[in-house]
Amino acid sequence: MSGEAILVTGGAGFVGSHAVRELVDRGFRVVVADDLSLGHRAAVHPQATLAVLDLGDRAALARLFEAHGFFAVMHFASKSLVGESMAYPFRYLRDNVVNALNLVELCVEKGVKRFVLSSTANLFGEPDVMPIDEAARIEPGSPYGESKHLIERILLWADRIHDVRSACLRYFNAAGAHPDGSLGEDHQPETHLIPLVLDAAAGRRSHIEIFGSDYPTPDGTCIRDYIHVCDLAVAHALVLDLLGERSCRFNLGNGTGYSVREVIDAATRVTGKAIPVREGARRPGDPPALVAGSALIRKELGWSPRFADLETIVRHAWAWRQSHPQGYGDRATVA
Ligand SMILES: NC(=O)c1ccc[n+]([C@@H]2O[C@H](COP(=O)([O-])OP(=O)(O)OC[C@H]3O[C@@H](n4cnc5c(N)ncnc54)[C@H](O)[C@@H]3O)[C@@H](O)[C@H]2O)c1
Repeated sequence: MSGEAILVTGGAGFVGSHAVRELVDRGFRVVVADDLSLGHRAAVHPQATLAVLDLGDRAALARLFEAHGFFAVMHFASKSLVGESMAYPFRYLRDNVVNALNLVELCVEKGVKRFVLSSTANLFGEPDVMPIDEAARIEPGSPYGESKHLIERILLWADRIHDVRSACLRYFNAAGAHPDGSLGEDHQPETHLIPLVLDAAAGRRSHIEIFGSDYPTPDGTCIRDYIHVCDLAVAHALVLDLLGERSCRFNLGNGTGYSVREVIDAATRVTGKAIPVREGARRPGDPPALVAGSALIRKELGWSPRFADLETIVRHAWAWRQSHPQGYGDRATVA
């Protein structure tokens, strides 16, 4: 497989750029398709080819497939803000689903048989059984989650009718940064807890707000599953082999949940800074706990997180924040 060409959509974004790095390190030829609407040119590995294009431009995509003869597609590019999708449901459903459909159809037309999708834990909405395994009921919590569910369904038919094998990787909260400090998280606006807490530690924001401290959890704050972005990248590379045989759906997480307070405490220890906290009201639709059951991918692929411990995840994210205070430096910072 090494030496084959892989198309990575969204390879200039947070998770995609780490996957590109993993694929290049494993000897693949990587082509990134990204419109740079949210991603960063500087995040694209120097050995990868960058095609700046919108996935809505089917003709441009078709030319890319024609030029490179891809062995596999990894699809990260997406709109992925849950709150924004509640405000603009049809934009989310249309863009995410149509763009994926373009890609899947091109795979069928050009004979590409392996497809890896960045799916999401939002597929499961507010589940009542924890940890959340692959048997959990799918009841998307937002139009964003629904768009990923629809893409999973499209992939099911691509498998049944056209033998395109797909891996749907449902992740929880991607976090951390590459341990060598070359890649990290630079979202504008930032909505993820760990970078926001680190911004508060660095004095770039006045405080961190805890949305609800009366949940039925040990310290009253929400529990979430944080998975190191490099562990996600490894899982993406590992499924390529399995796709030679069959399609698969895996929930991907640390298996250990951490509360908002535990994240703040870990960030306090790692940074050595006091982090101002304000306790606010619960946000509608925030379940008390979301933790992945990743037993299946552990069993079937021998995958296990290398950086499972929260303090390591926060340490890598902090190292990136310190060495890149303006992120990749190509956009004005939005507080
Ligand atoms: N970050 C997380 O915690 C998380 C959790 C679960 C699932 N996911 C999924 O993982 C994927 C990557 O997430 P991320 O945090 O790296 O996102 P990101 O915003 O950092 O990266 C997305 C990339 O896709 C590009 N893009 C968006 N729309 C495009 C289009 N129409 N054409 C071409 N390029 C386009 C952006 O420019 C960006 O580089 C997404 O599909 C997301 O839904 C992320």
